[in-house]
Amino acid sequence: MTNLKGKIEEYKKKFAEESARVRDEKGLAELRNEFLGRKKGCLTSLFDEMKGLSAAEKPGAGLLINAFKDHIQEKLTLLEGGLPGRGRAARSIDLTLPGRSLYWGAPHPVVLFQQEIENIFMGMGFAIEDGPEIETDYYNFEALNFPPHHPARDSWDTLYITDNLLLRTHTSPVQIRVMEKKKPPIRIIIPGRVYRRETTDPTHLPMFYQVEGLVVDAGITFAHLKGTLEYFLRTMFGEKLKVRFRPSFFPFTEPSAEVDIECIVCGQKDKSCRVCGGTGWKEILGAGMVDPQVFKNVNIDPEKYSGWAFGMGIDRTAMLSYQIPEMRFFYENDLRFLRQFNLK
Ligand code: PHE
Repeated sequence: MTNLKGKIEEYKKKFAEESARVRDEKGLAELRNEFLGRKKGCLTSLFDEMKGLSAAEKPGAGLLINAFKDHIQEKLTLLEGGLPGRGRAARSIDLTLPGRSLYWGAPHPVVLFQQEIENIFMGMGFAIEDGPEIETDYYNFEALNFPPHHPARDSWDTLYITDNLLLRTHTSPVQIRVMEKKKPPIRIIIPGRVYRRETTDPTHLPMFYQVEGLVVDAGITFAHLKGTLEYFLRTMFGEKLKVRFRPSFFPFTEPSAEVDIECIVCGQKDKSCRVCGGTGWKEILGAGMVDPQVFKNVNIDPEKYSGWAFGMGIDRTAMLSYQIPEMRFFYENDLRFLRQFNLK
C-alpha cells in the first residue's frame, strides 16, 4: 500500500511537470495517453498493482487511484481550455454580462384578428371551412353567376395561371365547394387569403385576407343577415357602434348590400380624416341573399331553401380596429411593428 501511495505521488509530480510543457493539441493528446491510455497508461499500471493487495487493502487503494484519476481528468480539461483556438467558451465566459433573452414566436396581428372573428362566429354556432387559393374559373366566377364575358369580372381581375386556373379573388368559391358537398342547414365562415390585380396603396395590396360567411336553411331571411352582422360588428367594435346597410350589386347575391361602420379613427368628427376621407363611414363588407341561380348550380332547391352570405376584408378591418394607417405594415415583417400586438 505504501508502495502504491508513493507511486501515485511520483506520477502526480510527473504529471505536473509534463503538463506545464504542453503547448498544443498534440502534446495534450500524448499526455492524456501517457496517463489515461488503456494499455500502457499510468492509471492502468496502478490498477494492475491493486491485484497484489490484500482484500482489506483493496477498497482504500481503489479510492486513492480514482481520486488521482479525477485529478488528472480535471487538469486535462483545464489545460484543453487554455490551448490556442480551443475551448474559447471556457475561457471567455463573462459572468457579469446580462443573459441573452429568448424571443418566442408569436401570432401575426392579422392572425390574431382572424381568431377574434372566428371566436365570435363560433359562439353563434358557425363552423370553419377553407378551400384552395388556386381556383378554377368555374368556382371563382362561373358557379357564382359571373358569365364568361360579364363586365362584373373586371372588378375581380386576378393573376391567371392558365386560361382556366387563377389565384382566387375572393373566398366566395368556397361557398360553392361546401354547398356541393353538404346540404342545408349550413352555417359556416371561411377565412383565407385572396388575390387581385391591384395597385398598391395604403389600403390595397394584391394579396389580402377575407372572411366569408354563409347560412343556408329553410326560412332564412335578410333580417337574419342584418341581425347576425350587427351582433358580430358590435361585439368586435363596441356595443354602440353605428352600422349602415347600402344597396349594392354582386352577381351571386340578390338583393345585395354593402355594410359601412362609423369611422372609429375620427368618430365621425373630422372632416379631413385620412381614414374615412371625412365621410364618417368606412365600408367593410359586401353581403346579400344567395342568388337562386347559385343554388341551382349546386343542386339546392331555391323554392325550399334560402340563405345569405357576406365577405369581409380581414386585414382591412384589422387596420381600422388597431388604427393602423398603412396596410403594408402588416407584411413588411418589421419586428418593431409586429411585437406590439403580442403584449397580452
Ligand atoms: N365576394 C365578395 C367580394 O369579394 C363579397 C361578398 C361575399 C358579397 C358574399 C356578397 C356575398 O367583394
